[in-house]
Amino acid sequence: MDPRSQDDAAVADLATMRVRYTAPGLREADLAATPLAQFASWLADAEQAGLTEPNAMVLATAAPEDGEIVPTARDVLLKQVDGRGFVFYTNLGSRKGQQLAANPGAGLVFPWFPMQRQVVVSGLAYPLDRQEVDSYFRRRPYDARIGAWASAQSTVVGSREELEERYEQLRARYPDTGRDDDVPLPPFWGGFLVRVRTIEFWAGRPSRLHDRLRYRTRSGSPEALDDAAAWLVERLSP
Ligand SMILES: Cc1cc2nc3c(=O)[nH]c(=O)nc-3n(C[C@H](O)[C@H](O)[C@H](O)COP(=O)(O)O)c2cc1C
Repeated sequence: MDPRSQDDAAVADLATMRVRYTAPGLREADLAATPLAQFASWLADAEQAGLTEPNAMVLATAAPEDGEIVPTARDVLLKQVDGRGFVFYTNLGSRKGQQLAANPGAGLVFPWFPMQRQVVVSGLAYPLDRQEVDSYFRRRPYDARIGAWASAQSTVVGSREELEERYEQLRARYPDTGRDDDVPLPPFWGGFLVRVRTIEFWAGRPSRLHDRLRYRTRSGSPEALDDAAAWLVERLSP
C-alpha cells in the first residue's frame, strides 16, 4: 500500500474525531475558598471515578538549548500537594532537571479526559531539601530505589542489556534487607516543589463554551495554596 494514502486516511479520521462535552461544568459558586481545597476535591473525584493514574501530570519546562528557548514536556507523578504547592520526584541530571536548574518556570497539566476536566498550573519549581527527598525515597519500593541508581535519566544508553546489567550490579551492591535504609539516596536524585502563581480549573461544556475558572495570586508571586486571602478568581474565555 502507498504509505501516503494511509497517512491521508489517518488525517481525515482526526479531523472528525471529537467528544461532546456533557458534564455539568463549573460555576463560580461551586468553587472552594482556596485553590488547595478545589484541587483536592477534583483529585478525589478523579480517584473515585477510577481514572488510571489520577496523580499523573504533564510537566512542562523551558530553558535555552542550542541558542533557542525550547519548552519540553513529559508525564510525572504528583507525590504531595499542600499549602506550599505541588511536589514531584526525578533525576536532577535529567533534561527536566537541567532545564529547571537554568529556569525555574514550570507548567503542570492534569489531563482528566474521562471527567471532561483539566487543571492547568503555572509557577516556579524549587529543589526540595535533602531531608524531605530522603524521607520520600525510603518509602519507595526496593526495586524503584535500585532503579533510581541504575538510570542516568535522559542520557543515551548503549542497549537494554547494559541497563539491566547495571541494575543487577546495584542489586548485588545494595542487597534487599527489607529495611528502608538498605539503598542510600543517590546524590543525583531529588524532588521539586512547584510554587503556584496561577491555577485554572477547566470543565468541558457544550458548543465549546467551556468553563475556565482561574485562581491568580494578588501579589503576582507564588502564594500558599491554602490562604484564601492571597487569591483572586477570574473567568477566562474558552
Ligand atoms: C504516568 C507516568 C508517570 C511518570 N512519573 C515520573 C516521575 O514521577 N518522575 C520521573 O522522573 N519520571 C516519570 N515518568 C517518566 C517521564 O515521563 C520521563 O520519561 C522521564 O522523567 C525523563 O524525562 P526528561 O528526559 O524530559 O527529563 C513518568 C512517565 C509516565 C508515563
